[in-house]
Amino acid sequence: MVKIIIGILSAALLICICYITYSEIVRIPKIKQDSVLENILNRKSVRNYVKGKEVTDEQIEKILKAGMAAPSARNLQPWEFIVVKDRKILDALAEKSPHGKMLSDASLAIVVAGNLNIEGVSDFWIQDTSAVTQNILLEVEALGLGAVWIGGYPKEDRANMIKKELKLPENIIPLNIISIGYPTGKDQPKDKWKPEKIHYNKY
Ligand SMILES: Cc1cc2nc3c(=O)[nH]c(=O)nc-3n(C[C@H](O)[C@H](O)[C@H](O)COP(=O)(O)O)c2cc1C
Repeated sequence: MVKIIIGILSAALLICICYITYSEIVRIPKIKQDSVLENILNRKSVRNYVKGKEVTDEQIEKILKAGMAAPSARNLQPWEFIVVKDRKILDALAEKSPHGKMLSDASLAIVVAGNLNIEGVSDFWIQDTSAVTQNILLEVEALGLGAVWIGGYPKEDRANMIKKELKLPENIIPLNIISIGYPTGKDQPKDKWKPEKIHYNKY
């Protein structure tokens, strides 16, 4: 009996060693590609949060890491981040944002801004910071949190309001405020799949 158990365990161990060696040689991807699509399809604008729940610094760092991994024109990375945790500032932003009232229940906000003083920066800073924003929204979803993009630039009044509240220098242009918190579950993803929007070769 003991011999049989030892035999089975040895065989299992051998299979494991063979699999690890094989996966290292042929580089079997460790992340299933399907999980990326699943994350993208599950993301939704979350405007309803469980009040008073803290998002940890560790979670915030992961969110910012995802943001800074975004592509940018000429790899200039012309972005800056203002992490807002101060309740008074969050409430002021909520009060003064025509479409950002949910900030009053958010755990925090991250303002994604373009830095126009970066050498060589062009209007592509808008696409660069938009890519940052999408990365952030996806990481927020992956962490089980919820977020919504609150528009800033190019709406002058909104961008100026953010600049004033956060004391941003002239060259720092806020693209948006990302409101983040723990979702209540009310907000759900939308099905946007429309094959008629796809064109092959010519429109
Ligand atoms: C450039 C931009 C600006 C947006 N501004 C706001 C905003 O000010 N307030 C808001 O509640 N949602 C805002 N949104 C979120 C959109 O309303 C939302 O993405 C859209 O309704 C689709 O829903 P979904 O994110 O759940 O897929 C904005 C989104 C983008 C891309």
